[in-house]
Amino acid sequence: MQLHFKSWMLALLTLLIVFLIFADISELEEEIGNSGGRGTIRSAVNSLHSKSNRAEVVINGSSSPAVVDRSNESIKHNIKPASSKWKHNQTLSLKIRKQILKFLDAEKDISVLKGTLKPGDIIHYIFDRDSTMNVSQNLYELLPRASPLKNKHFPSCAIVGNSGILLNSGCGQEIDAHSFVIRCNLAPVQEFSRDVGLKTDLVTMNPSVIQRAFEDLVNETWREKLLQRLQSLNGSILWIPAFMAKGGKERVDWVNDLILKHRINVRTAYPSLRLLHAVRGYWLTNRVHIKRPTTGLLMYTLATRFCNRIYLYGFWPFPRDQNQKLVKYHYYDSLKYGYTSQASPHTMPLEFKALKTLHQQGALKLTVGECDGAT
Ligand SMILES: *[C@@H]1O[C@H](CO)[C@@H](O)[C@H](O)[C@H]1NC(C)=O
Ligand SMILES: *[C@@H]1O[C@H](CO)[C@@H](O)[C@H](O)[C@H]1NC(C)=O
Ligand SMILES: *[C@@H]1O[C@H](CO)[C@@H](O)[C@H](O)[C@H]1NC(C)=O
Ligand SMILES: *[C@@H]1O[C@H](CO)[C@@H](O)[C@H](O)[C@H]1NC(C)=O
Ligand SMILES: *[C@@H]1O[C@H](CO)[C@@H](O)[C@H](O)[C@H]1NC(C)=O
Ligand SMILES: *[C@@H]1O[C@H](CO)[C@@H](O)[C@H](O)[C@H]1NC(C)=O
Repeated sequence: MQLHFKSWMLALLTLLIVFLIFADISELEEEIGNSGGRGTIRSAVNSLHSKSNRAEVVINGSSSPAVVDRSNESIKHNIKPASSKWKHNQTLSLKIRKQILKFLDAEKDISVLKGTLKPGDIIHYIFDRDSTMNVSQNLYELLPRASPLKNKHFPSCAIVGNSGILLNSGCGQEIDAHSFVIRCNLAPVQEFSRDVGLKTDLVTMNPSVIQRAFEDLVNETWREKLLQRLQSLNGSILWIPAFMAKGGKERVDWVNDLILKHRINVRTAYPSLRLLHAVRGYWLTNRVHIKRPTTGLLMYTLATRFCNRIYLYGFWPFPRDQNQKLVKYHYYDSLKYGYTSQASPHTMPLEFKALKTLHQQGALKLTVGECDGAT
């Protein structure tokens, strides 16, 4: 009798939790469904852009309004430079890892595996459910057989965002000293190594990068540039969100073809179809109402699984630094970005606030100034 009651309660509780998770996810679907039509004043061209924008985890900056935010937001986010005061809280890190594991498992969700798809399979894009793609022979070839993170554990990981806050930080050496270094969107490193380091164990690449940074490979010059960048990865993991949104198929195909044709030494990974919803679900249950997670937040969420200590660099979604000096959106180009623009699919300042709280609690360390030892 007693036992019966207990299992009933357990079943009820499970149901409630499942309900809560799905309530969150349906909210996400709704929001994504609506995002193209919000703001009636916006011109047709604009809404068309924002529609194709939804496709990318990091938006096509050129199509978002080039607003230079003049607010004083950065003052509110003052992070004490006295890094000696920061202390890692191992208990909290483990607790967060456990909580995130209820939503996703980085080991599995970091990539679709070969066993689960075959050439010709039809996939519905995550953000454009009505559009589909065929799994090509080349994509199939490049799917990993086993998770690139299988049984991986690292004492410390660096996640390097692309904010201009890294310029003159002198953080390169410190970043390279971590056991696993994650970078975003194939950002260049050679010319900036003093500030950003060189070591790269995983690098993400949204399909839009091919358009934005490699001119859609219009001629041999750009093709060669991409080839060299990929070759410089030298065995690291190349993480390509290929199933997020329509429009990127060709660009993913080009990259895949290049990798196979030139036998480039990278380990390709293509995030699972459930990853985005799961990540957003986790943050929503922690009352962080992000519209769509940035690559940086995705990486932090994944890293909690296999990194003991997590250090974030180059995360700074504000137009000015703590001393009110202008900060470039990317350390390597001149893209402008409206951090708080309604048209943006991301809620970067909100994400940053959540990360800052975790920094203060000792779950991760955010570096937003010069690194120790920088001169
Ligand atoms: C990105 O912006 C460019 C303009 O520079 C535009 O031609 C292109 O269609 C946009 N791509 C997406 C995916 O929005
Ligand atoms: C920025 O802050 C300073 C003082 O902290 C204030 O005088 C100024 O008006 C603020 N500027 C804006 C745009 O809010
Ligand atoms: C570390 O985190 C745990 C769990 O959140 C908390 O109970 C504990 O007080 C924290 N320890 C320190 C030293 O802040
Ligand atoms: C998938 O490939 C088949 C055969 O190549 C083709 O007939 C079909 O139209 C393709 N479907 C999509 C969604 O591309
Ligand atoms: C390729 O295009 C770029 C401009 O995007 C140009 O500067 C370059 O000379 C071209 N290279 C060749 C081989 O045509
Ligand atoms: C590439 O990786 C190998 C093995 O990890 C290493 O020995 C080699 O020095 C690396 N080459 C470059 C150019 O980084």
